[in-house]
This record gives sequence, C-alpha cells and structure tokens, in this order.
Amino acid sequence: MEAEIREVTLKIDDKEVKAKEGTSILQAAKTMGIDIPTLCYHKALSTFGSCRLCSVEIIDKTGRKRIVTSCNYPVQEGLTVYTKSEKVIKTRRVLLDLLLSRCPKVPKIKELALEYGVQAPSFSVANENEDCILCGLCTRVCGELVGAHAIDFAKSGVEREVTAPYHEFSNDCIGCGACALICPTNSRRLRINTYPVLEEDAKKINDQFLKGTFDENLGVSSGMFGAKTNIKGQDGGMATALLVSGMQRGLFDSAIVVQRTEGYNAEAVVAENVDDIVKAKGTKYLRVHMLSLLTDLVAKGKRKIALVGTPCEVRGARKIQQALLGEHPDLQLTIIGLFCFEAFNHDELKEAAQKLMNIDIDSVDKTQITKGKFIATINGTDHTISVRELSAAQTHGCEFCDDLTNKFADISVGSVGTPDSFSTVIVRSDIGSKLLEGLEYTKLDVNKEELIKIATFKKSRAKKNFAKIVPSEIPSQPSVASCSPTAKS
Ligand SMILES: Cc1cc2nc3c(=O)[nH]c(=O)nc-3n(C[C@H](O)[C@H](O)[C@H](O)COP(=O)(O)OP(=O)(O)OC[C@H]3O[C@@H](n4cnc5c(N)ncnc54)[C@H](O)[C@@H]3O)c2cc1C
Ligand code: SF4
Ligand code: SF4
Ligand code: FES
Repeated sequence: MEAEIREVTLKIDDKEVKAKEGTSILQAAKTMGIDIPTLCYHKALSTFGSCRLCSVEIIDKTGRKRIVTSCNYPVQEGLTVYTKSEKVIKTRRVLLDLLLSRCPKVPKIKELALEYGVQAPSFSVANENEDCILCGLCTRVCGELVGAHAIDFAKSGVEREVTAPYHEFSNDCIGCGACALICPTNSRRLRINTYPVLEEDAKKINDQFLKGTFDENLGVSSGMFGAKTNIKGQDGGMATALLVSGMQRGLFDSAIVVQRTEGYNAEAVVAENVDDIVKAKGTKYLRVHMLSLLTDLVAKGKRKIALVGTPCEVRGARKIQQALLGEHPDLQLTIIGLFCFEAFNHDELKEAAQKLMNIDIDSVDKTQITKGKFIATINGTDHTISVRELSAAQTHGCEFCDDLTNKFADISVGSVGTPDSFSTVIVRSDIGSKLLEGLEYTKLDVNKEELIKIATFKKSRAKKNFAKIVPSEIPSQPSVASCSPTAKS
C-alpha cells in the first residue's frame, strides 16, 4: 500500500500555505505565485544548491532565524519564510556581485545583478571572458535526463570547471544540445570538447560543408535515389560500395568502419584496404564510439579520412573537423552517414534477447530492423520481435536525438523509403557527388513520403523530450503504429 503523503502548513511572506511534505520551499512559493530567482535549479533535475540565489530567510519552530536555499530546503509544519526580507535581498546582492565578478560579460548575470542594484562587480575579476557559473545544470541534464554522462566537473577551487573526461573530445556526447539549451549563460565551454548542435551550430555546418536544397526534415540535399549494388550488404550495399570505390580512387586512404568483435559486440576500426572495408559490411544495431579514432588518425598525420557513422557520431565528427581545420587546413574528411532511429546497448540487448526471444544475440549471423520488427537470423532461421519490446535495451540518449537521415553527412545511406535489398541514398555535398562518380548500381525512386513520415516522427519524439527542459509547443505525435522505424515501402 502506498504511504500517504502528509500536508504541512507554513507561512510564506505572511500568507499561510499548505504543501505536501517533501516539497521544497521554492515549489511551495511557486504555487502562491511568489517569484524567487534561481540559476542552478530545474524542476526536471535533482537539486544542486550551488548558486544560492534562491536564498530565503526562515524562522523554524524553535524561533531560530537563518538564511537557507529554498530550492532544496523542505517545507515543515509551522515554518515561517520570508522571500524578500532585508537580509534576503542583501544576501542575493552579495551573491550576484560575486557572480558578476566571475562572469562580468554574461547578459543574464548582468541583468539579475542590475535588478539587485549591482552595476559593476566590487570583487576582482580573474577572467573577464569567463561565462560558466558552475551551476551544474548541463552535467545533470546530460547525466540524469539524456543519460549520456558526457560531461562532469573537474578540478577544484578556482580551477573548477565543466569538461569532458581528460579535456579530450568526448566519445560519449551524442550532440543532442540539451546541455547548451539548459545553460543559463549560454557558455562557450560546452562547445569545446562536446558537440551540442543547436540551430546556429547546424547552420554553420550546413554552410561550411554541404550544398543543395534545405528541407526542414531531411536537411540539405542535392539528390535522392534508391540503389542496389552487387555487394551483399545490410540493404543495397551502398555504404560499402562507396567506401571501396572512394579508397580505390584515392579519395581517402583510411576509413573508420565498424566491425563485429566477440559475439554481437562491435568496435570501430581503421580500414586501410578494400578487404577491411568489405569485412565491416552489415549493420550492428549498437552505438559504437569512433571519434577518438578520428582524432588519433589526424594526430598520426593522416589527412584523407573517411568515416561511416550514425547521426550522433557524425555530429561529433563535424564539430571535430571544424575544430581541427584551423591547425590542419589540408584535412579532407568524407562522411558516409547511416540513417538511424535508435541503437541498443550490447549487454542489455543480450539480456533482453535471451529473456524475450530465447536466443543468444552473440550467435546471430545478421540483424535487421524493418517495419518495427527486430529480426535476428541464426543459421538461416529468423527470430522476430517488435522493436518496442526491446526498448529497455535502447542506448541512453536516443530519445533526445532528432535526426533520422544523418543530415550532416556528405552522403547518407539508409533503408527507409526503398524496397528490401535497396539502399536509400541522399547526396548532400560535392564530396558526396564525387564519391558516386563511376559507381555501378541499379537505381529507383525513393518513397519520400515514407521517409519524411519517419523522420518527423523521430523529430517530434525528441521535441517532446526536450519540452521537459525547455517548454515549447509540442507537435501532435504521429501514431507509432503508422511510423514503424525502418519501415520499408
Ligand atoms: C544503430 C543503427 C541504426 C539504424 N537504424 C536505421 C533506421 O532506423 N532506418 C534506416 O533506414 N536505416 C537504419 N540504419 C542503417 C541501415 O541499417 C544500414 O546500415 C544502411 O542502410 C546501409 O546499408 P548498406 O547495405 O549500404 O550497408 P553495408 O554496405 O552493409 O555497410 C554497412 C556499413 O555500416 C557500418 N556500420 C555497421 N554498424 C555500425 C554502427 N553501429 N555504427 C556505425 N557504423 C556501422 C559498417 O562499418 C559498414 O561500413 C541503422 C544503422 C545503425 C548502425
Ligand atoms: S550535447 Fe547532449 S550528450 Fe553532449 S554533453 Fe550536451 S547534453 Fe550531453
Ligand atoms: S538515435 Fe542513433 S544517431 Fe541518435 S543518439 Fe541514438 S544511436 Fe546516435
Ligand atoms: S537555485 Fe537554489 S541554490 Fe541555485
């Protein structure tokens, strides 16, 4: 039986209010329409209590008066709270003075400070370009909500900062942009070794690397068609055929591809010849990190590199390319992007497959997701289950990813929109067009309606999740049944 949640009665700004035990003073004040300023609080995340801006004055049952942070102080029977007493205003003024001395140029801090009568910082300014107030909203949204755990605090004292592990380009970031969206100061730091792609970032990538007509759902493209090659790949074998042809024609000398390792597990490897490329054909429905391989190759002096990846990896690859081009203007990156609706975590997929399908995922010869079904083929026998039933094994973060067709690739390859054993191809840049030159394949039209339907479904799923962080108008959701991932027309 569920324990009954008791209500307590307290007074906020001389008005009595009832609130559920366990709620914070901040939440109780909100129900009364009392505005308390906050910087590190978000209702969708755990409380952190670092900015202290939500300070209020309380008098407890023993008559003791003190200042507490209202976002994490629980309501209590008989508590008296003042949200705008002289002491409260003075406390917030000192805090904003300190925040302004840390981030003197940040508009939001300047605005709040001015509200409390602080025109200029009275403490010394260590770095006038600092724009992070260490509120931890980004680290919490990435860990608690998105589930990527790409960033955290590092160092201590005055050196404390938010960063990806070891200050290296993150392998875990999926480039969803949640951290940047929630950041109250729009800190540049979040764009150093992680890859949030918000609208302005997307525009920069499109302008710098892509060419064609822009479509809100499918991105930039200069051509779209269905194709079947003589390679027996996952679908029409286009990804492998493009890589083979590109390497044979010297467009790149190294290609980052994904090979199975033990069982169904997979890892990114560098293919330096056609055999290695062909060995990697076939989809492994896992999220495979590959960005450290890209930076390693550049560090080793490689300048003509190809990469095949899911949209999250490609978002990161583009941001890394932008960051490295200054130092290495001769870097030529060819990106073959795979469509992706979701990926799985190997261990969780293994457990789910054993329990729900009675198979060992490590013994599969091939997996395919089509028409909302996950099909595992073992020794010629197909074992089928609805993708939805495997949702617990889905990689964390996919629910925040809004790109089906790999919008930032030079050329995208998937299966939605074409019949079985055909690839759907979207050309997005001169590099993509060049890759196609001389390639032999059977061509047909794409069912664009089907493609747009699933692309918008994925987009609206992400938008709905983002609404937990940034309130926005949620579009009406297309029904899942009519939008089975990777549905073949
Ligand atoms: C996790 C995931 C989810 C996908 N979801 C969809 C979907 O919802 N709808 C859709 O139309 N298509 C989806 N695809 C793409 C589709 O499964 C095929 O990969 C694509 O159509 C290319 O087929 P092909 O015959 O041209 O590939 P092939 O010629 O067989 O080549 C496949 C290439 O993919 C690479 N690869 C395999 N696994 C991975 C991986 N995990 N990460 C990065 N690269 C990998 C290999 O290195 C190889 O180069 C998904 C792919 C992945 C990896
Ligand atoms: S972009 Fe998304 S995944 Fe990357 S650090 Fe920010 S919240 Fe985490
Ligand atoms: S849906 Fe695909 S592209 Fe997006 S985060 Fe998941 S694995 Fe990456
Ligand atoms: S909002 Fe309460 S401490 Fe920051």
